[in-house]
Amino acid sequence: MDAAGPLPLARSARGADLPTLLITDRSGAERSVEARSGRSLMENICDAGFDELMAICGGCCSCATCHVYIDPAWTDVVGEPGDDETGLLDSSPHWRTNSRLSCQVEMTDALDRLRLTIAPED
Ligand code: FES
Repeated sequence: MDAAGPLPLARSARGADLPTLLITDRSGAERSVEARSGRSLMENICDAGFDELMAICGGCCSCATCHVYIDPAWTDVVGEPGDDETGLLDSSPHWRTNSRLSCQVEMTDALDRLRLTIAPED
């Protein structure tokens, strides 16, 4: 480590800004967090300390405890859920047309400033 200390978390190793997620928790509070492309939204949400997102199955698409609502302005960019994901979401009493399982969406630079809300617990 040099005298200036570690790089700020907002910068990648090559000095570029990291993408950001705008996450609303179950209390309605929104927080902007830095995200890592190549990791799932679920992993980024958990890494940012949102303990209410349980993600019990660890991203195997079998628990639906990583349910989030994608801001409608972003649903086309994020894309449609697959068949397994749709099956799990259909069983949720909190399903909405913009529901996604956050473990099934990979964070990319194109999702910079994506706004999402953690769904109520089933
Ligand atoms: S973490 Fe279990 S379905 Fe997403």
